[in-house]
Amino acid sequence: MKKRIFFALILLNISLVPGFAQLFSKVISSPNNKVQVSLILSEKGEASYKVRFQGKDVIGQSRLGLQLRGHDLSSRLKWVGDETTSDKNTWKPVWGEVDEIVDQYNALTLKLVTSDGLHFDIVFRIYNDGVGFRYEVPQKDKMHEIVVLDELTEFKMITDLSTWWAPSDWDSNEHSYTHSRMSEIDATWHLSDIEPFNQHIVDVHAVQTPVTMQTESGTYMSIAEAALVDYGAMHLEVDRVALRLKTFIIPTADSTIKSVNQLPFHTPWRAVLLSPDAGGLLTNHLILNLNEACKIKGDLSWIKPQKYVGIWWEMHIGKSGWNYRDKDGKPTGIHGANTANVKRYIDFAAKNGFSGVLVEGWYEGWEQWFNTNKDEVFNFTKPYPDYNMPEISRYAKEKGVKIIVHHETSAAVPSYTRQMDSAYAYMKKYGFNAIKTGYVGHIIPKGEWHDGQFMINHYNQVLRRTAQNQIMVVAHEPTRPSGLQRTWPNLMACEAARGQEYNAWSKGNDPSHELTLIFTRFLGGPMDYTPGIFQVELDQYRALDPLFDQSKANRVRTTVAKQLALYVTLYSPIQMAADLPENYEKRPDVFQFIRDVPTDWSETRILNAAVGDYVTTARRQKNTSNWFIGSMTDETPRHFKVKLDFLEADKTYEATIYEDGKAAHYLNNPYPVNIRKVRLQKGASLKINLAAGGGSAISIIPIN
Ligand code: NOJ
Ligand code: CA
Repeated sequence: MKKRIFFALILLNISLVPGFAQLFSKVISSPNNKVQVSLILSEKGEASYKVRFQGKDVIGQSRLGLQLRGHDLSSRLKWVGDETTSDKNTWKPVWGEVDEIVDQYNALTLKLVTSDGLHFDIVFRIYNDGVGFRYEVPQKDKMHEIVVLDELTEFKMITDLSTWWAPSDWDSNEHSYTHSRMSEIDATWHLSDIEPFNQHIVDVHAVQTPVTMQTESGTYMSIAEAALVDYGAMHLEVDRVALRLKTFIIPTADSTIKSVNQLPFHTPWRAVLLSPDAGGLLTNHLILNLNEACKIKGDLSWIKPQKYVGIWWEMHIGKSGWNYRDKDGKPTGIHGANTANVKRYIDFAAKNGFSGVLVEGWYEGWEQWFNTNKDEVFNFTKPYPDYNMPEISRYAKEKGVKIIVHHETSAAVPSYTRQMDSAYAYMKKYGFNAIKTGYVGHIIPKGEWHDGQFMINHYNQVLRRTAQNQIMVVAHEPTRPSGLQRTWPNLMACEAARGQEYNAWSKGNDPSHELTLIFTRFLGGPMDYTPGIFQVELDQYRALDPLFDQSKANRVRTTVAKQLALYVTLYSPIQMAADLPENYEKRPDVFQFIRDVPTDWSETRILNAAVGDYVTTARRQKNTSNWFIGSMTDETPRHFKVKLDFLEADKTYEATIYEDGKAAHYLNNPYPVNIRKVRLQKGASLKINLAAGGGSAISIIPIN
């Protein structure tokens, strides 16, 4: 009853706004009433919406609409009907940060018809933690195909918001983030930042999604997309004067076309995540809830959260190489993926309880890598002569370890597509069921982009075909994740951002990088960031591969304790221990945390958080009473007291605290880690001391 009166008042408000003679307007609220969306159809037949959160406008009146070839879905629209529904259910992710997720919303479908008679719907779902909406065009007789020329969706900001953004790049997500006012968004400096392998920035006043903002009243808001299938990825053009973000869909090779689709058609969901505090963004499940339920039927036990090591960092620091041959066709002598080295990593994994070993550069073709005009570069069923596949398979099996099979495609997509069946059958024959894909380079066919419809379809095809073959996927250089791991839980993680590798061969990632990533890119899904570097100064290596010269004082800009904290603060069901085994063997006491930390969780709590500055995350290991805490800061040292009121009342726990040691500092003293143990009970307070660029990692295990 109360609810109805509230609706009526809001309706009244809207119809009093001058200049908008509305044909239709309706307000719909979230189940807890804190989020309200107004949907409006003006006299000119233009659809728009507004969003309020906790009594304040967060998105002002913003345009809705699509431009199809031959059909204008943005003006002279007529209302045909509308429908309100609601739904509540609870679902269990196959792996994740929590055991169960509540999916509860109120929905409003606005049914419209264009001036030339095309019927379509705009569907809004209002959740307690945000809003999702999309366009749907049903099946229509004699019209099977549509061509999307533009999506006109806008997000109008009320004031000049504090914004954490990365540039809109059609081809790469491997940029650093900037924190500025929305009116100051300008990616000009990224144009000369040639580090990302393939970069295509067209508009310096546009950003990628998710983009995160804080309003004057303190609300945190992130604009993202969910369930990106059969459509280009959503970027946002920024009107820095009007403070309006307009959807920009990455085009197809025909730059005038955004996508071509069969009917029935719907766009991906446009998602607005809302939270009164920064930590709430990290426990927000809107993007997952907007995705479809798991499509993999039957046994899912082959999908295994895990930790892995690999023949990887040694290549990025130039100690070994991917290529087997030099330019004269002779063995380079520093090929990393040789049988003896693989066995060394298998032994290390087995000894330390890791189930995976990634091996890069094991198959023919690497000598031609970077030849970005070539379609046929790699052969995914032909190992190099020094990589004895049957023996590696036998040895791995004996040790209870599986190889994570590398499939760098060099962005030669037709070639990879032709080889998929044989490549998957080959690895399965040898007992392996996880791949790491890679798409470095310019996409073939030419003119397509990493974020365009063609590639979105390719990434989705890989998920379907690997699922049929019971293969897990870690994708590098794909588009940013949009929650598809709910539908395809064999998608363990994506890179789709600037990872640890940049510390090896570029000016690196600054101390606020990971602290911005978790509030932006990570909102759509896990990242294969590859934490755990203990030898953070890299100039101690003498690179044998001249491409990876370490004389430039490349380094990781964190303390070692912060590298430990990343295993808890950066969520992924698959986490690499990225450093060389010999570096771990030198510090077994510190390495113990990486051995202990799990990758699958029953519960997650954010104990404190500020975007780009700091975070403290507590997680309960899946189906146990064991807790793990990760805390990390940017270049500012910080001291926290956190209350452990989430522990069980009848238990005593032993906490092992791995913290920045005396005088630790990410630049001039990154190595000291102080390890201490304390007994704890529910309600205890724990002091967390973080050095500049530092972190703390804590395991809390019941002893009774
Ligand atoms: C870039 C990936 O991000 C990295 O992990 C990989 O080692 C190289 N490409 C080679 O595929
Ligand atoms: Ca990469």
